[in-house]
Amino acid sequence: MYDPSVLADRFYSEGVISIGFQYPSDDTFEAINTLIEIVLSGNDRLFLLDTALTAVREIIFNAVKANLKRVYFRKLSLDINDPSDYSRGMEGFRDIANDFSLLHDELASTDRSVIFRMARGRGKIVFEIINNSEILKNEMERITVRIRKARECSNFAEAYETAYDPSEGAGLGIILIMLLMRNDGIDPENFSVSSKSGKAVSVFTLPLEVKKAEITTAIKEKILDDIDTLPTFPENIMELQALCGQHDVSFDLISSKIMLDPSLAAEVLKTANTAGFITSKRIDSINEAVIIIGLKNLRMILMASASRKIISRRFKRFEQVWDHCTKTASLARFMAIHYGLARIADSAFVAGLLHDMGKIVILSADQALMEKISDITGNRRLRSSTILEEVAIGISHSEIGAMMAKKWNFPEDLVDALKNHHSPLLANKRNSAMVMIVYLANILTMHGKKGFNPHIIESQVMDRFGLKRDRIAEELKKIMDRFERMRSR
Ligand SMILES: [Fe+2]
Ligand SMILES: [Fe+2]
Repeated sequence: MYDPSVLADRFYSEGVISIGFQYPSDDTFEAINTLIEIVLSGNDRLFLLDTALTAVREIIFNAVKANLKRVYFRKLSLDINDPSDYSRGMEGFRDIANDFSLLHDELASTDRSVIFRMARGRGKIVFEIINNSEILKNEMERITVRIRKARECSNFAEAYETAYDPSEGAGLGIILIMLLMRNDGIDPENFSVSSKSGKAVSVFTLPLEVKKAEITTAIKEKILDDIDTLPTFPENIMELQALCGQHDVSFDLISSKIMLDPSLAAEVLKTANTAGFITSKRIDSINEAVIIIGLKNLRMILMASASRKIISRRFKRFEQVWDHCTKTASLARFMAIHYGLARIADSAFVAGLLHDMGKIVILSADQALMEKISDITGNRRLRSSTILEEVAIGISHSEIGAMMAKKWNFPEDLVDALKNHHSPLLANKRNSAMVMIVYLANILTMHGKKGFNPHIIESQVMDRFGLKRDRIAEELKKIMDRFERMRSR
């Protein structure tokens, strides 16, 4: 088990860190991720975190895969340098490439290993990933072609179609790295692969001064246009919101105004009955609901229901997104209280209710593209879909949600939560506890499912809530159990 803060101290004093391994365990990635997080945070460059983590992870996987390929060929007594043996071997290797653990034991009995090296340069951080498998001539040709093609492509879809090589089951990593670099305005020369004397070396240089590129795509244009032309909230909602802000307003007046709009009344009742607000009995009357929810909160709930209503009318229906949002909201509210942050529970709840509304906008603009993005995000266990959305569309669902929230005059903390629910370290310090809660709640909704990955949680978030790396799974399970118990009461 590595101690990332010790590694970081060493990096600061010596300017370089090396970590060697055969197989990248969750522990190894946690150490590397945390080290990168600490160093980028120290340089005020946390906005490069996703790019750095994704690129390093992809390069490490490629290096391990190259080693495994040799182990696999040896296991089958195939000569990797012989063209017909090579194509025979590659057929079976595809399964291994999808699940490294299949060759875990064989790998352990060899000296094949990978070294991750991170060095400080002037205004840059240099990542070097070295493995002891020399790259074959035909492999090098493929890599070179892939890099060149990825550089030439003007967008993600094109890069995916032209440079992805299904016969090798590989190549997407390199494309992804090239596209991420382009997205962050990093010169493609900063990535290179070379090989000599029994070793392969991939170098990824992260300049600390970058100018983010503005990516324009037809779908982005359409989305921006959609946001531009979104209607404002209906008259009655705006009137109710203003009433909620008044000092001496009567609850009866508010209830009667809500009841004039049956679908709004239904929505308010539904929200009041959502787990987290009440524990013992069902709320059947608007009057009761208004009292239980409270005026400040009612104002936010009106905001959430008006937004959902407008979105459902303007865009295609994607119930699974709303279901996920509702679950995130209840969890966020529960977690806020669990961590003694009752004062932010209501904002966290509403932020949860709307956090993925940008996804609906992308889904209705191009469902097939969004599905491809979700597939790749899941298969490669990326931290979130935002990074792919940025390279494929030029804007992420988080950013879209924040733009919509701004358009509807949401309070600043909600806009921040929508914008940073996948990048809580970038939130305004003032809102960071709330944004982190929504971020954690969103991750926790996957608990018990295949995509659940608590290892991606940033160390600053863990520290904020006293979560411990070595016990993260148990700690989160405990929270989930309590949440489920509360819900079933
Ligand atoms: Fe999201
Ligand atoms: Fe989400």
